[in-house]
Amino acid sequence: MENLIKNICCIGAGYVGGPTMAVIADKCPNIKVNVVDINVDRINAWNSDDLSKLPVFEPGLPKIVKRARKKNLFFSCDIKGAIKNSQMVFISVNTPTKKKGIGAGQASDLKYVEACARQVAKYASGHTIVIEKSTLPVRTAEVIKSILEEYQDTSGEATFEVLSNPEFLSEGSAIDDLENPDRVLIGGQNDSAIQALSKIYSNWVPKNKILHTNIWSSELAKLTSNAFLAQRISSINAIGALCESTGADVKEVARAIGTDTRIGSRFLDSGPGFGGSCFKKDILNLVYLSRHFGLNEVANFWEVVVSLNNWHQHRISKVVVKNLFGTITGKKICILGFAFKANTNDTRDSAAINICKDLIEEGAILFIHDPKVNSNQISKDLSMDESKNIKNTEYKHLSSYEGSWCFEENIDNATHNADAVIILTEWEEYSKINWNLVSKRMRHPAWVFDSRSIVKKNEVLAANLKLWKIGDGTN
Ligand code: NAD
Ligand code: UGA
Repeated sequence: MENLIKNICCIGAGYVGGPTMAVIADKCPNIKVNVVDINVDRINAWNSDDLSKLPVFEPGLPKIVKRARKKNLFFSCDIKGAIKNSQMVFISVNTPTKKKGIGAGQASDLKYVEACARQVAKYASGHTIVIEKSTLPVRTAEVIKSILEEYQDTSGEATFEVLSNPEFLSEGSAIDDLENPDRVLIGGQNDSAIQALSKIYSNWVPKNKILHTNIWSSELAKLTSNAFLAQRISSINAIGALCESTGADVKEVARAIGTDTRIGSRFLDSGPGFGGSCFKKDILNLVYLSRHFGLNEVANFWEVVVSLNNWHQHRISKVVVKNLFGTITGKKICILGFAFKANTNDTRDSAAINICKDLIEEGAILFIHDPKVNSNQISKDLSMDESKNIKNTEYKHLSSYEGSWCFEENIDNATHNADAVIILTEWEEYSKINWNLVSKRMRHPAWVFDSRSIVKKNEVLAANLKLWKIGDGTN
């Protein structure tokens, strides 16, 4: 079986499905890769001749898509045809937190995964290996299997095997993560299916980095990995708050503890709180599972990682208000960065959403800049229309202003007459800002709030600006 894989498909052309399949197609020219989705706009964007219009912004991705697309990489909405012709089907659809019903607010909503399983059951022909690429609660493979087996029994035409192959890529570095992964994890029971998938990865991943486990360990390892990473961020952000109160500097503390090889130096950057579509969702899922199995103390332990993150984001809003004399009503504030991290256009669960909402609630007029996020997305995230009129008229400080926001492509305009600049995403261009020029445009006393610790302190202070830097209590 392992030598025969020629056609694979992936259901879900999102932040995981698109880049992952592009890399597989690029590394395995003999395999035809079909990426399918129900979202026509997304598929059209993946097929766009203008590679800057791909639906996912990832450094290195356009080059790979250009090389493989229409050779052995295809994007379409033909889900039925893709499943029918594939020996392997990756399920890479979204698994958001449930909004209502049992487990609302914590459990993962598996309706898209179940829909995929039913489509695979209906359209597959011959022997099909179904691969969980989405992040799923432990024992989801059981659900997928039972749907597939039901069909297998009645038709007898198709047979199935289910594997878990969670994805560990980070947005912004997805291509490098996919091309040089720390490990590839494959969980399953059937040796032939495991070998077939391992063979695909072994085209570019060293064999010792391809780990095999049982299927439940694989599902749980993915949730655990995200929980451990998020826990590190809440830990360093908690210590950062303590640094600000005690005269310590979180960067120095991180360097000091990171040299202990048992702790390690990566993932210790204090910031505005973790965002992204997965950390919060996956920890809440772990909390839900733990409670489900009666492990309340385990659930409480992980829940605190999320509650500390929420507290931390609101703490930053409070720091801003406090330093701007206790009121920001009618004050112009420039927000630099809306994406949940640099090098991505993704805003899902971005810390910027909570922080901007807090500031608008306090009456601030936000001028928001981000090199890759557009105003429509921000409008959706803030559940509030953009007030374009505040941009087109000469801005005046009026205390009667209701909180509002507008998108501003030009940082010069965004900082003109502003009382404060808040850096929320660590885009490289923000670390190169000429603070002398910015200072001249701002209303004084003027503040820089650097939640990513990317500015040079001496340059900001020399420009006659006041500075708050996350976790830096040395002022
Ligand atoms: P996404 O929302 O960007 O993409 C999911 C896609 O699936 C959407 O385009 C949607 O239209 C499509 N879809 C949903 N139901 C469908 C159906 N029945 N048929 C066809 N298409 C369907 O999500 P994502 O960020 O790519 O995440 C996908 C999964 O991967 C999630 O479980 C997530 O937890 C996990 N994951 C995400 C990342 C990441 O960095 N984003 C990393 C690792 C794992
Ligand atoms: C994370 C994991 O790193 C991936 O391994 C995993 O595959 C993915 O989630 C997923 O399952 O979705 P991602 O969310 O894309 O990847 O990005 P990260 O680099 O992990 O950053 C997450 C958040 O933590 C961002 O808001 C980032 O700014 C923040 N962060 C990260 C910090 O505040 N400090 C750090 O030191 C690192």
